[in-house]
Amino acid sequence: MRLSQRMARLGTETAFEVLVRARALEAKGKSVVHLEIGEPDFDTPPHISAAAAEALRAGATHYGPSAGIPELRQAVAEDSTRRRGVRATPEMVVVTPGAKPILFFVILALVDDGDEVLYPNPGFPIYESMIRYIGGVPVPVRLLEEKGFELDVDQLVSRIGPRTRLVILNYPHNPTGGTIPESGLRAIANAAARFGVPVLSDEIYGRILYGDRHTSIAAMPGMEPLAIVLDGFSKTYAMTGWRLGYGIMPAPMAQVVAKLQTNATSCTATFSQMAGVMALTGDQSSVDHMVREFRRRRDAIVEGLRAIPGFSCVRPKGAFYVFPNITRTGFSAKALADRLLDEAGVACLSGTAFGEFGEGHLRFSYATSMENIEEALRRVAGMLQK
Ligand SMILES: Cc1ncc(COP(=O)(O)O)c(C=O)c1O
Repeated sequence: MRLSQRMARLGTETAFEVLVRARALEAKGKSVVHLEIGEPDFDTPPHISAAAAEALRAGATHYGPSAGIPELRQAVAEDSTRRRGVRATPEMVVVTPGAKPILFFVILALVDDGDEVLYPNPGFPIYESMIRYIGGVPVPVRLLEEKGFELDVDQLVSRIGPRTRLVILNYPHNPTGGTIPESGLRAIANAAARFGVPVLSDEIYGRILYGDRHTSIAAMPGMEPLAIVLDGFSKTYAMTGWRLGYGIMPAPMAQVVAKLQTNATSCTATFSQMAGVMALTGDQSSVDHMVREFRRRRDAIVEGLRAIPGFSCVRPKGAFYVFPNITRTGFSAKALADRLLDEAGVACLSGTAFGEFGEGHLRFSYATSMENIEEALRRVAGMLQK
């Protein structure tokens, strides 16, 4: 079959490819410690699963409205108003199968051929993939490792101009765990408002934070007509397989995104959405427990990586990834990631899987048991000593 030309511009998420390679090694009898995939190792809290089972029994097995069931749009709006301190209404909410479609739909809806989109690099690889696929021009904005991987706000602001159609932010950030301080968000909001540029704020890790409270750019003055928040259930409630996420945006934009959803998937599974209502309105202690446990693991993996010759490691402020600098080992990031998998049985990702500015780094997910983290550290140190 002859593929469309645009297919040559589509990227991917290397995590899934590394997982396949790791599984193939395991099938041959090799032991692999998995630090490649970005998902909590916790089970979905039982009261959430029970709500889905009850919804199935009650017949929630049919199509629903494209933008989401009213109960969940309401619950999302109330949760967001409370947490972000800026009023959201149900008409501003679109529920999607996972948060990823929000990215695709928003870029599709806003970006024409040749339009510039600013995005963090290193960053979630789907940003650059989608911008290119749709015909936009990706404009990378770097992160400042010396400032704990904060986004370089000065660079971003200086690059917003008449050709900019969209700014994508992600805080806490995948793959570095960095955040953006309130002063930075304010500066970005001022620049975006000056040029009337929408901001897609990926806050999927917004509740996985180890210090300061999460502040959203949606709450900054002037952002009401321009902010599109991406959030979801995958990380906060350990619900990656449920495929449940959402966007919060001005109501007219929500109608556009819902229309794209009508064309793409019709709607999100109704019983998953009923589980989402329970997740947002029910007991939140599982989230606190998970974040406490991630913090313990973060501290262990940061200390362990810092002790390995040739590694240095910034302490992440959020999410569940570390992004150590490995330049002093003498390996390129890809070569070291490959050798760690093939020779030491540690699956991790090359920093370059997150864009060209990820060179010199690896990404380890610490959403795994303390035993796995300790075993992985032993294996990495052992391989580098050889
Ligand atoms: C930064 C970022 N945004 C969005 C997503 C997508 O989440 P979901 O699984 O809900 O589609 C991920 C998942 O890894 C992510 O890391």
